[in-house]
Amino acid sequence: MNWFLKTLYSTLGQKILMSLTGFFLISFLMVHLTGNLMLFKGDNGAAFNAYAHFMSTADIIRVAEIILVLGFLLHIYTAWRLTQHNQKTRPQAYAYSRPDANSSWSSRNMGIAGSVVLFFLVIHLYNFWFRYQFQAEIPIVPGTDYKDMYWLIQTVFVQEWWFAILYIIAMVFLGFHLAHGFESAFQTLGLHHKKYTPLIKKLGVLFAIVVPAGFAAMPIYVLGHYLYTMQ
Ligand code: HEM
Repeated sequence: MNWFLKTLYSTLGQKILMSLTGFFLISFLMVHLTGNLMLFKGDNGAAFNAYAHFMSTADIIRVAEIILVLGFLLHIYTAWRLTQHNQKTRPQAYAYSRPDANSSWSSRNMGIAGSVVLFFLVIHLYNFWFRYQFQAEIPIVPGTDYKDMYWLIQTVFVQEWWFAILYIIAMVFLGFHLAHGFESAFQTLGLHHKKYTPLIKKLGVLFAIVVPAGFAAMPIYVLGHYLYTMQ
């Protein structure tokens, strides 16, 4: 047990934890994006509302939420500890180092991109989780007994359109964060292979474009749909 805890607290242990929680959050993003695709069905939010109702009432989702919160917290905590460790072991920038020539912007700015995503997440949970649970004036979907999440989505992305802009900008940072994080998680876990690593790199780039673009398409679609139907 002692060796296990020692490994866990070591720099390597922290890196492994960050990679594992990163993989877990990547799978969450895929599930979340897939569920939210209901928004594009063009049925005035019927399928999306049924999905949101399931997400906010099913017991299994409550258990998944606890694991999700732990995953986020552990990912952020290990990132913070590793950043502190790196700053301590490299107190001065090398005089002749040319970081821009040796590494990508996303790999050098994981902390910045991650912090923007965290900032986005706090606002996002307020917009859709907190307001759905606690805001009094959310209408009920006609013919059902559940609240209208589609109405809330439209309120946030149309009436409070600045959130739509903020979401789109945050998705650019999510893309940068994923671009490096995806590949780096494989590397940390020693999943390195002459034949497969180039494929993993390409898959990482594809993932970092498709997932944030899919999310960014949601505020764009809701705003666009509103402007189109206004004419
Ligand atoms: C921009 C497009 C997005 C839209 C329209 C959207 C929409 C929603 C909605 C409606 C909910 C509440 C219902 C549900 O659980 O499905 C939700 C919850 C949540 N979203 Fe998003 N989301 C977006 C992007 C993201 C991104 C990029 C992340 C992570 C970085 C994220 C993380 C979460 C989390 C952690 C929850 C709470 C999950 C739960 O309580 O079960 N969302 N989102």
